[in-house]
Amino acid sequence: MDLIVARNRADLLAARREGTVALVPTMGALHEGHRSLIRQARVRSDQVVVSIFVNPLQFGPSEDFSRYPRTFDDDLDVCRDEGVDVVFHPGVDDMYPPGRQVSVSAGEMGRVVEGASRPGHFDGVLTVVLKLFNLVRPDLAVFGQKDAQQLALIRRMVADLDVPVEILGAPTVRESDGLALSSRNRYLSDDDRKVALGLSRALRAGAAQLTPDKIRTAAHEVLAQAGPRLELDYLALVDPATFTDVSESYHGMAVLAVAARVGSTRLIDNVTVTLNPS
Ligand code: PAF
Repeated sequence: MDLIVARNRADLLAARREGTVALVPTMGALHEGHRSLIRQARVRSDQVVVSIFVNPLQFGPSEDFSRYPRTFDDDLDVCRDEGVDVVFHPGVDDMYPPGRQVSVSAGEMGRVVEGASRPGHFDGVLTVVLKLFNLVRPDLAVFGQKDAQQLALIRRMVADLDVPVEILGAPTVRESDGLALSSRNRYLSDDDRKVALGLSRALRAGAAQLTPDKIRTAAHEVLAQAGPRLELDYLALVDPATFTDVSESYHGMAVLAVAARVGSTRLIDNVTVTLNPS
């Protein structure tokens, strides 16, 4: 079957087939990480829909909405190559017709860690994700663990608002040197890229430890070695479901998350760690 490109709600409705539908929401600039989400969607469904929409609601006024990479023709090639059935690529006016008033609040969990640095970001993410769910009506949707707080909040929204969509998380895809794949990596110069490796190195150093204090200390040491061009925003060790800080006596899985600026590019990364195993 040829790839169908649906540019509005009517096209999308016409493209819908019988059977299990999987949605992979994206903002485009597709890379190997997106391919792995699409492959996970493919094995679980009869029809794979990839949405490509750079969502203005989730960018702050001084963020990179206008310069966010838009590579639609290349994205279509990736989707064809991965056997995607439908690409949903609506315009901003289609998604947000004038007069809009109501949106989703991510609550307190949306105001900590990444949300503390990007006020309103997760309200914008949840609003567009819920709209995509209502428009595409998928049985399941796949999101990357690379945006761990986003994934946790989407699971929270689905539980709190009784949204009938199964949420699947897919592991972060990395370059061979450890750099997590991100659409924003294409902003990095060669020198920036070397500095950016400090993020994944710090997470690896932290993950080799077993207690919260040691994890934070090991990670901070490596971040400091990256030098002043890596401007740390936060390093957080949090409960994976709530994104609240863990205590020294916490047992079990936690998320070690980092955000930093390298030049004008803001990068995030995270790993799962097991604390105080018995
Ligand atoms: O992770 C992303 O690319 C975006 O936040 C998402 C989920 C597509 C919503 O715009």
